[in-house]
Amino acid sequence: MSLDKTIHFDFESLMPEPEFPFPWPDMSFWDVMPESVRKIPSKLKPFQFDHNKKYDLIFLGYPIWFLSPPIPLTTFLKSDAAKKVMAGTPIVTIIGARNMWVSAQEDIKKMIVDNKGKLVGNIALHDRHQNLLSVITIIYWLMTGKKDRYLGIFPKPGVSDEDIQQATRFGKPIHKALSSGHFEQLQDDLCQLGSVELSPDITSIELKAKKIFYIWSGFILKKGGPRARERIGRLKMFKWYLLFVIFAVSPIASLVFYLTYPLFYSKIRKNMAYFKGVDLR
Ligand SMILES: Cc1cc2nc3c(=O)[nH]c(=O)nc-3n(C[C@H](O)[C@H](O)[C@H](O)COP(=O)(O)O)c2cc1C
Repeated sequence: MSLDKTIHFDFESLMPEPEFPFPWPDMSFWDVMPESVRKIPSKLKPFQFDHNKKYDLIFLGYPIWFLSPPIPLTTFLKSDAAKKVMAGTPIVTIIGARNMWVSAQEDIKKMIVDNKGKLVGNIALHDRHQNLLSVITIIYWLMTGKKDRYLGIFPKPGVSDEDIQQATRFGKPIHKALSSGHFEQLQDDLCQLGSVELSPDITSIELKAKKIFYIWSGFILKKGGPRARERIGRLKMFKWYLLFVIFAVSPIASLVFYLTYPLFYSKIRKNMAYFKGVDLR
């Protein structure tokens, strides 16, 4: 940032090699699960930014892949360039998710700590529609490339246009922190503006699902790496397992969660406060 208070941005798009397709053909979509969950890096085209430069603030914008950081971001965070550019630098994460981003953000927090960076803020934009509706609409969007109303009756998929436009409100506290060099209060200020909204039942399901994804990813990886034909059978098993769990088990899990809510009230409150924050426990 220069002294005349003009803020200069360097933008970097992470370019995977080979590129991931969009819209996603069915098997390509499921094929990224094991490496995403196990945080196995891939390849990226050379970066354009100067990683020896000292930045005042880094924004990491990312979607979620199978409750985990997307492979291109993991690849970046595990690179020497990320280690250099992040060391000692404040970082704000901006998530664009369906509605399950908490465990991916925990992975990101760890990788930021490994790179000696300092996470100071998090803005998590998500699809506000009911859980099962958003599964249907996001799959429709990702597999057709059409971000419109499926069959004319379902809601539009993803983060709403309104939420995207209103995200400009987060600029003020970020600008204040950046101008003063004090980031300690930033996440509280962002949270007050609604930068992180969590449903306890969705978070509870997600944390359990991540552990199960970890087991599935190991099972699939035994048959080979990305795009290996030998693992297609196991990927198909995972696909049908996941669809069954989402549509048949998760509504029951939500019901049980709320029936037992009073028993775990203080633990849940503590957990929610932690996941809204930027510290790593
Ligand atoms: C392979 C893949 C897996 C995804 N898994 C999740 C997930 O576990 N949780 C979630 O909230 N969103 C998930 N999403 C949705 C993304 O977080 C994001 O909302 C969607 O990809 C749109 O963002 P984009 O246009 O930047 O890709 C997934 C998307 C893809 C492509």
